[in-house]
Amino acid sequence: MWHSFKRALLALSLLAWLLPAGAQAPRERINLDRDWRFAHGHAHDARQDFGHGLRAFFFAKAGYGDGPAAPGFKDAGWRRVDLPHDWAVELPFDARGDTNHGSKAIGRAFPENSVGWYRKTIEIPASDRGRRIALEFDGAYRDSVVWVNGHYLGREPSGYSGFRHDITDYLDYGGTNTIVVRVDATMEEGWFYEGAGIYRHVWLTKTAPLHVPQWGTFVKTTVAGGRAAIEVDLSVRNDARQAARFTVEHRILDPDGRTLAHTRAAGLAAGGAATADSRQRLILAKPRLWSLDDPHLYLLRTTLSQNGRVVDTYDTRFGVRTVAFDPDRGFILNGKRIKLQGTNNHQDHAGVGVALPDGLQDWRLKQLKSFGVNAYRTAHHPPTPELLDAADRLGMLVIDEHRMMGTSPEIVSQLERLVRRDRNHPSVILWSVGNEEWALEGKPLGTHLAREMHAIVKRLDPTRRTSVATSSSGRGTSLGADVIGFNYGAQHDVDAFHRAHPDKPATMSEEGSTLTTRGIYLDDRARVHLNAYDRQGRPGNSLSIEEGWRRVQERDWMSGMFIWTGFDYRGETTPFGWPAISSQFGMTDTTGVLKDTAYYLKAWWRPEPMVHILPHWNWPGREGQPVDVRVYSNGDEVELLQDGRSLGRQPMPRDSHLRWSVPYAPGRLEAVAYRRGVRIADTVVATTGTPATVHLSADTERLAADGRAIAVVWVNVRDREGRLVPAASNRVDFAVSGPLRIIGVGNGDPGSHEADRPAERHAFIPLSGWRTLALDGADAASAPAAPDVVSALAPDADLARWRDPAQWLPPERQPARTPYLVLRGQFDRPRLAAGQRAMLFVDQLEPGQQVHVNGVPVKPGIVDGSPAVLLDPALLRDRNSVAYVLPTPPDGVAGMFDRSAGTSRWGSVRVTTPAAPWRRSLFNGWAQVIVQSTGEPGTGTLTAAAPGLPPATLQLDVR
Ligand code: GAL
Repeated sequence: MWHSFKRALLALSLLAWLLPAGAQAPRERINLDRDWRFAHGHAHDARQDFGHGLRAFFFAKAGYGDGPAAPGFKDAGWRRVDLPHDWAVELPFDARGDTNHGSKAIGRAFPENSVGWYRKTIEIPASDRGRRIALEFDGAYRDSVVWVNGHYLGREPSGYSGFRHDITDYLDYGGTNTIVVRVDATMEEGWFYEGAGIYRHVWLTKTAPLHVPQWGTFVKTTVAGGRAAIEVDLSVRNDARQAARFTVEHRILDPDGRTLAHTRAAGLAAGGAATADSRQRLILAKPRLWSLDDPHLYLLRTTLSQNGRVVDTYDTRFGVRTVAFDPDRGFILNGKRIKLQGTNNHQDHAGVGVALPDGLQDWRLKQLKSFGVNAYRTAHHPPTPELLDAADRLGMLVIDEHRMMGTSPEIVSQLERLVRRDRNHPSVILWSVGNEEWALEGKPLGTHLAREMHAIVKRLDPTRRTSVATSSSGRGTSLGADVIGFNYGAQHDVDAFHRAHPDKPATMSEEGSTLTTRGIYLDDRARVHLNAYDRQGRPGNSLSIEEGWRRVQERDWMSGMFIWTGFDYRGETTPFGWPAISSQFGMTDTTGVLKDTAYYLKAWWRPEPMVHILPHWNWPGREGQPVDVRVYSNGDEVELLQDGRSLGRQPMPRDSHLRWSVPYAPGRLEAVAYRRGVRIADTVVATTGTPATVHLSADTERLAADGRAIAVVWVNVRDREGRLVPAASNRVDFAVSGPLRIIGVGNGDPGSHEADRPAERHAFIPLSGWRTLALDGADAASAPAAPDVVSALAPDADLARWRDPAQWLPPERQPARTPYLVLRGQFDRPRLAAGQRAMLFVDQLEPGQQVHVNGVPVKPGIVDGSPAVLLDPALLRDRNSVAYVLPTPPDGVAGMFDRSAGTSRWGSVRVTTPAAPWRRSLFNGWAQVIVQSTGEPGTGTLTAAAPGLPPATLQLDVR
């Protein structure tokens, strides 16, 4: 009976093995962002790196990952974090940090802050046996190493490239599996803030053995005669040993889920452990084209079936549009000339660093669009995939940039991954294979490398052109790709280049680099603040925003201009260096508040009538002095009035601005814009009173209760009449209640050293020097009182006859088994600064175990899910003993000590520096708080309190 039951079970599991496992759920893509354990390791001291690399053979033998890489490692007390996570943004500013990277305490001088360990366990059901399972990282900064269940899987040096590991062979099916990632941000890749950690999403993808591999589709569209031909290149991977025959179906769906076109190919075949490529064509009658105003997307649903059963379903979002770069007419989208009104951007934002929630990608693109930006260059590295999803959805054109020029296998692999990943995005209009490669951009090697990289890109994507951004033209890299990217007009003779290379399209891939601080109108160099009037940032090298744009407007052949930059970013603190911590090149500050130059662009880049005055009109002490007043507008005339009295009506030169010199007197300035004599817009700046209220305003009233959605909240102070006080610098304290958490605060001040993202910080002191003593005669009840126990626990006990449990003894020399033993370790006195506290995390080795610190019994409670004791500083000495008195386990000490793991810690001391409170000072009237759903539904409340003012609250409906 029992036997037949077992046989039946065996047959069942065999069946499960043979069945295409995808039959029930062909493909799963599981987000793994939630609930990682995180701790700082150390860049060169293995002891402070949790002993990683100390175990013999740790890298020589498969499955020998040691320290935190070992599956049995105890990460009790490690911080819980959700991804995306950037630990650099949590660190303090420090003059010894790299000013190009924003002077965070990270890099060579801070080995204790530069390595981060991430650990996570996942359950893999037994029913997954037979499926292919892969871990996919969208990106980690940088030099990351991944282990699964103690097995080293590989290393990714790039902080920007997505990477993937097939972990099918390493998993415990029906068990718990441990994923470990060590990220080392000691070294830099760029010359700007780059963050640190797993700052993009992580996914677990499960498929049947026969499946569409990652990025396995390429959808090419051509439009002619009112129809679109959709050509789909498909790769199918067969990970089974035997060859497979299969059927492919492609279906094009509109956003309502209706099928618009359909094709099917049966009888396709892939060899065992091989990939088969196929190509199919579909026709879309009357395609709705993807454009800036109507970014319409279609879905291609690809279905693979085997023996009549669906084994995989793979979705590809795409758009139908035509793009061209013309050497005479510039950029053309769907047959229409469009000037690229672009900005360059790095990927960090105030508060959160590089760990942007997806919602912030959308928010940033919308902010750029608000002043007319239609194009985005991902300077100088592959973006996160969600940025391109947002660009597809919102209608933003993208130059997708690779990080470094070269043809080594590592660099080529990164370039190929970029193109394969991004080639279905309608927003991507151009591949950039390099930026200002100074060692070679003027040399034949530059031309050669650009050509080689161009060829690699073309092989993977013949539909788009390539470009290189360059600071010297006429030679080198500028000749190697399709489209020349001029960085900064003033350093090129663009007309001479155009005459010499009449068949080469061009963009101004960088222009501007103007240096302005949002809300500042008089330089204050001690505070690293530079006035916000548009002017050249580097005379002789770069142009003002207005000059740059006019030059582009004057040349039909110039496709457009990409301003350096859209947003201020951390690092690259030109011209100050420390104590400045962020750049000032942006059209907005790091939080996204528009600077005046953004209003210049809005005037000429947006169709809506507008008029803008700078500066503000609060200048106490400057009464009677002339103030340089400028007005931006897309009217053809503007009149300026001071306190109702006209200061004149002036014609607005195209793509330019107007100026008045106005003697300051408290009161109001009003600008009225006209078009053909008709009033189209007006605006006022008025002298305000002192701050009377705090004001909060969010970009949304409602959030999804999904643990990811965010709201971006502006913080201002207003005077008694409700007017925003422009130069206010009030300190504001924030608190949240309900299902909300704050994830970052900022104010856009390039000189502010206030915390962006206060976080709890832990340092770990290992317990070491373990010794054991077998206890004769003691029983469970009397053990702690027994004389030999009391003397064994004494802080200064003589340990000479104690045994080192790590030392292997032949069976005949093993001590006789006793009912009880004492296990004693030690740790140095934790140096506690004010506000810090020390916590002892103990291992629970046996039920009935007692814990003593310096001979005093302590009672562990549960902290972060593990037994731990708060250490009373009065109890501590320079050397401290921790002793466990416990019943001897059945297999003795040897069984407790996992020799194969190399080290066993049996506990550690955690020193915690609590997170600073959430607070920020306004900078010139503005600060920003980003709040996020915690995952539960309800009403969330954000409270903002500034000393001396009544607090403000904001409620969000989270559901
Ligand atoms: C360019 C460079 C950018 C940025 C900019 C600052 O040369 O490509 O990354 O450094 O200068 O002006």
